[in-house]
Amino acid sequence: MSGPTPLNARITTREDLGGGLFILRAVYDSGAHLEFEPGQFVNLGLPPRRAEDESGQTGLVKRPYSIASAPKDAEIEFIIRVVDGGALTPLLMELQVDDRVWMEERAIGKFTLAMLPDEPVAAERDLVMVSTGTGIAPFISMLRQFEPRQLWRRFVLINGVRIETDLGYRAELEAMAAERDDVVYVPILSKPGTDGRWTGLTGRVDSVLAPEVYEAQVGATLEPQHCQVFLCGNPNMIDEVEQDLDGRGFKRHRKRDPGQLHLERYW
Ligand SMILES: Cc1cc2nc3c(=O)[nH]c(=O)nc-3n(C[C@H](O)[C@H](O)[C@H](O)COP(=O)(O)OP(=O)(O)OC[C@H]3O[C@@H](n4cnc5c(N)ncnc54)[C@H](O)[C@@H]3O)c2cc1C
Ligand SMILES: NC(=O)c1ccc[n+]([C@@H]2O[C@H](COP(=O)([O-])OP(=O)(O)OC[C@H]3O[C@@H](n4cnc5c(N)ncnc54)[C@H](OP(=O)(O)O)[C@@H]3O)[C@@H](O)[C@H]2O)c1
Repeated sequence: MSGPTPLNARITTREDLGGGLFILRAVYDSGAHLEFEPGQFVNLGLPPRRAEDESGQTGLVKRPYSIASAPKDAEIEFIIRVVDGGALTPLLMELQVDDRVWMEERAIGKFTLAMLPDEPVAAERDLVMVSTGTGIAPFISMLRQFEPRQLWRRFVLINGVRIETDLGYRAELEAMAAERDDVVYVPILSKPGTDGRWTGLTGRVDSVLAPEVYEAQVGATLEPQHCQVFLCGNPNMIDEVEQDLDGRGFKRHRKRDPGQLHLERYW
């Protein structure tokens, strides 16, 4: 009988964003460099609080997390939200610098730009990334290696969260959007509070996709002829936006039947 999977990685950074949202960076003990495509994920694992995990098996509690760092970075980065009563996130939340964790040595997933159909370079093509909460992770990884004016005209990143402090990577994204005319960042808050501090968009993330709102924010139209749309995070948001865009001529992308909609459900 084989024993529990050994912890193989070390936490190098831990940043608290408040409200149970935090960023972790980790490296392998072996010094190995993880090869991955932005948009992919790895499993993280820790021993459960009790000797047995929820399936009655002794071993680590493991869950998938999208990689937020770029492939060239020395450390692997994650943005994580504590789920109340969850099996793994309360344990990840307790991790401090130099603590050990299990980090799978293989990245998985097809939610990447590499999965897009090979097409000749066209000036009029937009990537439209729609996320709730920590669903921003795969998109920050893609943006961190996004070359200006390669294949895409624009990289539009829409992030819907409840409150201002939930806007992960806000400063980095605002700086990037100010510097580059091919990056558009659209944050939106569903629970902005009543103190009047927030002057940006309010509502749920899907409201940004209404034609008049989208055109005012992005300066272009949202149409299947020139947009590839990636949805990541809350599964209810994904289902509802997919249904809406389906009615506007978008269809789910499949390898043998290319479309314009790409989905990553977090639960
Ligand atoms: C491909 C992929 C990538 C992911 N990347 C990330 C990431 O970058 N950051 C991140 O924080 N999470 C990410 N997740 C979610 C993550 O894998 C876990 O599901 C989450 O962290 C909860 O784990 P847990 O063990 O604490 O809760 P569990 O004990 O597994 O879950 C308890 C219940 O909470 C619900 N739930 C799970 N996640 C959430 C959530 N985020 N919000 C509300 N309810 C939830 C589910 O219904 C679940 O049954 C990703 C999931 C997938 C499939
Ligand atoms: N421990 C803590 O301190 C703490 C704090 C906060 C959250 N949590 C946990 O974290 C979990 C995740 O919270 P989260 O805020 O990161 O993620 P979330 O519940 O997915 O919410 C993120 C954003 O998605 C929106 N949304 C939800 N359903 C949608 C839909 N069908 N269509 C469009 N938008 C939708 C939310 O709007 P609405 O506001 O309108 O729902 C919010 O703006 C919670 O369930 C909770 O367990 C823990």
